[in-house]
Amino acid sequence: MSIIELDDLEAGELSVEFEGREPWDLLEWALDRFGDSLALSTAFQDGDVALIDMAYRIDPSVRVFSIDTGRLPQETHDLVEDLRERYQGLRLELLSPDAVQLQRLVDRNGPNLFRRSVEGRLLCCNVRKVRPLNRILASLDAWVTGLRRDQWASRAEIRKVEIDHDHDAIVKLNPLAEWTEEEVWDYLRDHEVPIHPLYAQGYTSIGCAPCTRPIAKGEPTRAGRWWWE
Ligand code: ADX
Ligand code: SF4
Repeated sequence: MSIIELDDLEAGELSVEFEGREPWDLLEWALDRFGDSLALSTAFQDGDVALIDMAYRIDPSVRVFSIDTGRLPQETHDLVEDLRERYQGLRLELLSPDAVQLQRLVDRNGPNLFRRSVEGRLLCCNVRKVRPLNRILASLDAWVTGLRRDQWASRAEIRKVEIDHDHDAIVKLNPLAEWTEEEVWDYLRDHEVPIHPLYAQGYTSIGCAPCTRPIAKGEPTRAGRWWWE
């Protein structure tokens, strides 16, 4: 929304300052600094719900959004209901893709274009996920993600406070960057946070129903996403 809340230098300094500190310290600072122009993004995965719990404890009026791609598993919507029940008054927005763009995508390519090629998958993700995300981020000064360094090689270097140059240089906060999967699950257990029902079925990373499957023992946690590629 507003241009340049922080610059790269300040973001780097803040990252250093918050390194080694608890995720909620960063959330508290960010909620105080950005208020309603900050929102948590959630795909309802393990870290995402931990963040909702932490943020709600600091400020029950915290904004949370999720892109409802139209292809999410029923279990994700079941979890949404559980969260609404548990966190009374939670401002959880489910954002849909643009109806006209979606209609065109499916008319031209059928509903399962992601199976045929990487281009098809990227196009589907673009219309169902990326564009709605861009739309909401254009209205914010800062957003929070559940990204962690232990999730994927490409995430090993993420910092806790970044300038998001893909989205108009708004502030991107990754409070769980240095936590491990184990620390997240300890938190979820200790605070009895509602968790996604598909974890109990062997899923370790959850997205759209047709593009996510459970993994075998020993596979990387994100091996169940777009596995046919
Ligand atoms: S993805 O690149 O495979 O789609 P992943 O599922 O690991 O990403 O999620 C990483 C972070 O991106 C989540 O913790 C969440 O903050 C954000 N995110 C992912 N999917 C969505 C979504 N559908 N709506 C809102 N935020 C999302
Ligand atoms: Fe489409 Fe699959 Fe991407 Fe979901 S994850 S938007 S169904 S390609």
